[in-house]
Amino acid sequence: MDSYVLFGHPVAHSRSPWIHAQFAAQFGYEQSYESVDVVPEHFEETLWNFAEAGGRGANVTLPLKEQAAMLCDELTPAAARAGAANTLIRLPGQRWRGDNTDGAGLLVDFERLGIAVTERRLVIIGAGGATRGILGPLLELAPRQIVIVNRTPERALQLVLESGAIGVVQAWSLDDLASVGHADVLIHATSAYRADGLPPLPDELVDAETVAYDLGYGASAEAFLAQVRRAGARLAVDGLGMLVEQAAESFLRWRGVRPQTAAVRENLRRLLADG
Ligand code: ATR
Repeated sequence: MDSYVLFGHPVAHSRSPWIHAQFAAQFGYEQSYESVDVVPEHFEETLWNFAEAGGRGANVTLPLKEQAAMLCDELTPAAARAGAANTLIRLPGQRWRGDNTDGAGLLVDFERLGIAVTERRLVIIGAGGATRGILGPLLELAPRQIVIVNRTPERALQLVLESGAIGVVQAWSLDDLASVGHADVLIHATSAYRADGLPPLPDELVDAETVAYDLGYGASAEAFLAQVRRAGARLAVDGLGMLVEQAAESFLRWRGVRPQTAAVRENLRRLLADG
């Protein structure tokens, strides 16, 4: 039986094993996919042991994505640009190729939702690993501007410098949110998941043309999405679709086939609603 895992800390509440079981069933594949809780100090050894035991592929989540990229023997351009890997593909020997499917997953979900990026003004709140992972793929769609707003503005500035698109990408402090101006697309990418750390959204930021997307999903996205709905956003959605699509992209890289995602997304939504 082909063996896959999710490495992270913590991982107990991850929906990835459920999602991958649905995908495998679509093709009649017999596979195992388990969550493995591993602290950074033990990650290298655990990954090596998994390869030795014949592991075919792994997903990696917080806080191990950057470390995963460093442990890989080769990286795809997406993983290299993000400086982080969420998908490890087994190579001959005990070697791994690191990829990053977060950005691809977001773009597939944007397409499903009809969220346009080209020539639009994007505002991203947050400048951590999540933002770093999606910045390159978003830039490829030629937005007019991407404004990164962060509590620690130096981190936003760092992403601007790394982006290679100074001018198109700008850095702002969260303290100056009131002056950022209008967002065609507003993305919430902080880990202040209850959003209680976030200032109120200024009127100029969100209007009836704005679409808002939270990279988190379920309860963790509620506070932000409630704020943008109150502000009159045209669309306010959580990142459940991105979660399922990035998983489908991982599956594609491991198996060479892309699973259907619509029913999986809807069933997962129901599962979350049922608690
Ligand atoms: P991730 O990989 O989820 O992006 P991260 O790299 O730790 O995690 O980044 C967390 C992001 O959430 C950062 O942008 C962080 O802001 P700082 O760079 O200033 O730390 C942001 N964040 C976390 N808690 C926050 C809060 N209470 N208010 C505003 N921003 C917050």
